[in-house]
Amino acid sequence: MCGIVGYLGKRAAYPVLVKGLKRLEYRGYDSAGVALLTESGDLKVYKTKGKVADLENYVSDKDVSGCVGIAHTRWATHGEPNSTNAHPHISYSGNLAIIHNGIIENYAVLKKQLQEKGIEFKSNTDTEVIVHLIEYIRTKKNLDLLSSVQLALRTVIGAYAIAILDKNDPDQIIAARKSSPLVVGIGEDEFFLGSDASPIIEYTDKMVYLDDKDIAVIRRNEELEVVDFKNTKIDHDVQKVDLNLAQIEKGGFPHFMLKEIFEQPDCLLDCMRGRINVEGNNITLSAIIDNRKHLINPRRIIIVACGTSWHAGLIGKQLIEDFCQIPVEVEYASEFRYSNPVINNQDVIIAISQSGETADTLAAIELAKKKGAFIYGICNAIGSSIPRATHTGSYIHVGPEIGVASTKAFTGQVTVLTMLALALGKERGTISNDRYTKIISELSLIPEKMKELLKQGEEIKDISRIFTYAHNFLYLGRGYNYPVALEGALKLKEISYIHAEGYPAAEMKHGPIALIDEEMPVVVVATKNVLYEKVISNIQEIKARQARVIAIVSEGDDTVRKLADSVIELPQTEECLEPLLASIPLQMLAYYIAVAKGKDVDQPRNLAKSVTVE
Ligand code: G6P
Repeated sequence: MCGIVGYLGKRAAYPVLVKGLKRLEYRGYDSAGVALLTESGDLKVYKTKGKVADLENYVSDKDVSGCVGIAHTRWATHGEPNSTNAHPHISYSGNLAIIHNGIIENYAVLKKQLQEKGIEFKSNTDTEVIVHLIEYIRTKKNLDLLSSVQLALRTVIGAYAIAILDKNDPDQIIAARKSSPLVVGIGEDEFFLGSDASPIIEYTDKMVYLDDKDIAVIRRNEELEVVDFKNTKIDHDVQKVDLNLAQIEKGGFPHFMLKEIFEQPDCLLDCMRGRINVEGNNITLSAIIDNRKHLINPRRIIIVACGTSWHAGLIGKQLIEDFCQIPVEVEYASEFRYSNPVINNQDVIIAISQSGETADTLAAIELAKKKGAFIYGICNAIGSSIPRATHTGSYIHVGPEIGVASTKAFTGQVTVLTMLALALGKERGTISNDRYTKIISELSLIPEKMKELLKQGEEIKDISRIFTYAHNFLYLGRGYNYPVALEGALKLKEISYIHAEGYPAAEMKHGPIALIDEEMPVVVVATKNVLYEKVISNIQEIKARQARVIAIVSEGDDTVRKLADSVIELPQTEECLEPLLASIPLQMLAYYIAVAKGKDVDQPRNLAKSVTVE
């Protein structure tokens, strides 16, 4: 939610900032803005409603000189998306500019106090409060900018990553974070700021991931200094970040989402590399080796996550219960954090998050930690907040995911959960050797099978054209494929804005069947597994009500082919691995329907990739 970029150095700042905003546009894209300290010594702020490209048009005839600047792409929380509410915001004297990602929870109280002192607000944002507060403290107490920021942040409650420029000090940027991500890039005589590494990696791989309540003092010709609110120096690690530009560019695909769908075979190879040894019949997850005493015999496991990651968690529950015989609950992190869960130190929490920044998931982790649980993270974004908040974990290693609708992260999460369940099951002796061996060997074949499946892209594109008329879709699946149905429906609604519901197939009779008619297509995952016959009965019930059926079936299935209107075949695999294959055609179906409807697939309306606010 909201992307932050900053630059201080010897280059022209504006091109660095705009390029950085484009890389961060997945975080928010309703308005954008930039503040520059220009060569003439002015503080220039340009902002506009719309995307970064709109900002570029807007500034095309303006002074964008200067080697220091900050920039922002917004996902509106307080105040509608327009140029007034866009960031940067300026303090009442006109001297300070701020950009902010997060939410200031006590902004209403602070705003009232500042208004009573005669300060006028221009926007409806919570952010404007911070910049006026800093200015007010600085003037009243005659402090420097850093001390004013430190005092102001002691008053502010909420989440923030901020960066502040001072017109009268062109050699400094002050940045701070609490519960929203912020990275400082360190180059030769230059510094970069980003909500993640993607706007920085082109220039330097040396980065400092700020921790909560860190304040970064960036000054020309000086070393980076990190201090806390009381001005105590904080040691900071400079990490070498391993990310290449190709990973964050489209590579010839029309959309990031399509690129990411097609990357999945390679992503899963990366995810399994060094972890699965088929010849040795072995799975090695260092998190398990290092934490046997917590992980081998927990009282139960609770999986917390949001969105697509929650769907991966539902599959994880089935895998872990099936292979390990440990009871597993799957909770929405947003509900869990406000419940009063009965947790103790014999419980393990698995927190799943692609971005590693989801505010609700982080809060759920903190709650469970306080109650003594052991926390295992499954994340994609390296160095993000959740891996740092957990006791241990496994990265999914699928590379940066930029399309807002999650695809490769989902299959990566399911792959890690599969390896985790297999490794724990083996250690606990709750999975037979034959089954363990068979599943490891089948899992290692999934990338090749995915490649075969992806070759059906054109057929799926043809199928998708038939269905652009629909206003509602139903997705059905059972067992391991029930979460696949939920995820398929989520993909469609996220990017095509067609209403879609996922249901366990047998539940159809308890409500959704009332909706079924010739206007409502039904997608059914009907692979040949133990519940196959029952799903066939469901298809017959749907056809009796004249709805069109798109069926995802096992290779060579003639029975369903005779019943369904459109059929997509999956290569054979173990039942527990079917979600890894079945989710691919559903991702493609959603993608092609959305493209056929002319929707903005990578940046669907109202959504954001990284939900750093509640
Ligand atoms: C947002 C994204 C989803 C994602 C969810 C959870 O809603 O648009 O794609 O599944 O957040 O995010 P996380 O990063 O925690 O997996």
